Amino acid sequence: MKDVAGKVAFITGAASGMGLGMARAFSAAGMKVMLGDIQKDPLDSAVAELKGQGREVEGVVVDVTDRDSVFAAADATIAAFGKVHVCVNNAGVGASGSAESTSEKNWRWTIDVNMWGVVWGLQAFMPLIESHGEGGHVVNTASMAGMFSFRDLSAYNASKYAVVAMSETAMAEHQKDNIGVSVLCPGVVATNLGTSARNRGDDYGGATDKKSEQMMEMLKKGLNPDIVGEQVLEAIVDDQPYIFTDPGLRSLIQGRFDRILGGYDWADQCEALKNVDQQGGIDL
Ligand SMILES: NC(=O)c1ccc[n+]([C@@H]2O[C@H](COP(=O)([O-])OP(=O)(O)OC[C@H]3O[C@@H](n4cnc5c(N)ncnc54)[C@H](O)[C@@H]3O)[C@@H](O)[C@H]2O)c1
Repeated sequence: MKDVAGKVAFITGAASGMGLGMARAFSAAGMKVMLGDIQKDPLDSAVAELKGQGREVEGVVVDVTDRDSVFAAADATIAAFGKVHVCVNNAGVGASGSAESTSEKNWRWTIDVNMWGVVWGLQAFMPLIESHGEGGHVVNTASMAGMFSFRDLSAYNASKYAVVAMSETAMAEHQKDNIGVSVLCPGVVATNLGTSARNRGDDYGGATDKKSEQMMEMLKKGLNPDIVGEQVLEAIVDDQPYIFTDPGLRSLIQGRFDRILGGYDWADQCEALKNVDQQGGIDL
């Protein structure tokens, strides 16, 4: 999307961290922005900050785990700005632990916010972007944890691999129309992710201010989220599908792909496949 000025964007998780960074960058570039977040007070402050700078923004309280809430946010966006061109499914939470040590409630919370939040965002907003024919862009926030499986982050890794998969599927589906799709895979960014259980609903075990000091220390040293906001805007203009924020982590992905391809090297000399002739067989 070369020309963003005057276009309308909806962003989830926009009251804090990278979502707020994007709202700042998009509105500074002349976009009209609907900020969505589950936390009303920080959302109101973010909207007030941007309105105070003369930006065209509004806010809507949304819980991305709830389909009706996301569809209501889409209605609010259309009511405020008439149409929508850009949707950023960014809201996310982080629970740590191995698959077996993570409680069922934390598993469901992580998957409901990080994966279902993107599903509802795509279902509510993609038809609206398609409907006006002016083109647009969708950004889904995954993580480096959607490209590489970090230890003690099983539910988070699983949720973010799902976001990468949905994004790549949408890229393939929208190859020929005027709608770009990007997946944001940040490294460490200095946000409030370490306290994301502040927003955990009662169905998932309730809110807590418990946090991992190790995670807080790591996040503190991360990239400024406003820089990520500017990078995402640049990716939308450039129609860049993969957005990596930390080039120093390239070797993690390279190493993973090398290990995966090692599976083919082994299959090439595997006894069970010795006399079998296969030609691919998946119709793309
Ligand atoms: N910070 C990092 O190092 C890092 C790295 C990779 C990926 N990410 C991803 O970036 C995204 C943004 O997180 P952040 O790091 O800016 O953290 P953050 O906590 O600063 O911001 C996340 C925002 O999402 C909102 N939110 C949480 N649950 C919600 C729900 N159910 N409905 C609507 N909004 C909800 C929070 O209120 C918060 O404002 C997340 O998807 C996260 O997984 C973060």
